Amino acid sequence: MSFDFTTVPPRLGTDSQKWQKYPGRDILPMWVADMDFRTSPAIVEALHRRVEDGVFGYARPVKSTVDAVVEACANRYGWAIDPAWLVWLPGLVCGLNVTAQAFAAVGEEVLCLAPVYPPFMTAPKNSGRISTTVPLVLHPGPTGVADGRWEIDWAALEAAVTPRTRLFFLCNPHNPIARVFRREELVRLASFCAQHDLVLCSDEIHCDLILDPSLPHLPTALVAPQHAARTITLMAPSKTYNVPGLGTSFAIIPDPALRTRFVRATQGIVAEVTSLGFTACEAAYRDSESWRQALLETLRGHRDHIVGALRTGQLPGLRLAAPLEATYLAWLDVSALGLSDPVAHFEAHGVGLSDGSYFGALRGSHVRLNFGCPRATLDEGLRRMRAALAAL
Ligand SMILES: Cc1ncc(COP(=O)(O)O)c(C=O)c1O
Repeated sequence: MSFDFTTVPPRLGTDSQKWQKYPGRDILPMWVADMDFRTSPAIVEALHRRVEDGVFGYARPVKSTVDAVVEACANRYGWAIDPAWLVWLPGLVCGLNVTAQAFAAVGEEVLCLAPVYPPFMTAPKNSGRISTTVPLVLHPGPTGVADGRWEIDWAALEAAVTPRTRLFFLCNPHNPIARVFRREELVRLASFCAQHDLVLCSDEIHCDLILDPSLPHLPTALVAPQHAARTITLMAPSKTYNVPGLGTSFAIIPDPALRTRFVRATQGIVAEVTSLGFTACEAAYRDSESWRQALLETLRGHRDHIVGALRTGQLPGLRLAAPLEATYLAWLDVSALGLSDPVAHFEAHGVGLSDGSYFGALRGSHVRLNFGCPRATLDEGLRRMRAALAAL
């Protein structure tokens, strides 16, 4: 079966957050992490069928929805989860905020590795907890194009722990550096959390978007089973199947006491998942695997295209230091340009990128490019970026 990753319905003038950002300006939005692709036909069909019912009361997942998630965990990662471990959520950012509130008190600390998706740092602060970031260390490669490696600085991580540290927020695969953590690293991180009695919250929202086929997704809770009782795994169909606007995610919490604490923190505050969200979730995990594989092929082609443009000097001054192992997000080092506001410069040339400083990078040092779009859109974005560089 073939799928269309080249055409998208026009997004301007729609409810798209991504496309509403630059009213009246000709700026191609390549920032927030949703894709300019239609979702899988199986999801669209399932939603059509559900809409035809015309009844949209408060929802609970039916068995087939839970089965779809449980079977995906078993088939994709070899992880046998008990349906009782699932806690449904309307979003993963919500999950990060709930986790911070449930497992750290006001003034207590939450650790994470930076640069990182901004809510890892803001979620603790939203409720008066403290976010402590430990910088990931880049070991550059010989060519400087996608051949370096980001590493965890274990000594810095140890040094960052205080008597008030309660939680560790892991992002695997890691947004924005597109890194897939290896088994040894995950085992060591879990042991580190056990040693310091930290709850380990592993956001695995990008786990079905691994671009390097030699790297399987390893759920942290699975690779370190002796520490699974301190884990909260956050997953969702939203990134992979491009349905983040349907607000359907889940936490997998094996330990009953941890789960009770987590659920208690959601009560009266966290909205229910909707019937359309459950419908999309089931069709995503059960009926959209061939679409996902076709998506991955498309994204791998885009990744190679971007790396090729960098290798052949078409984007002078831009650096992609490490390989894009996962996600559709490229973390570009623009520090050589010497701009105080690189995002504004690229916007002035018609391309809208994410500002690296929101992810904890030095202001002016990085931008993030979303390449989850048709090749023609990517090419237009790269053309505008070249024009922006030529204008310097
Ligand atoms: C690591 C990570 N977690 C969570 C989210 C957002 O999750 P949600 O839209 O379900 O709140 C994103 C979105 O880009 C992300 O990259």
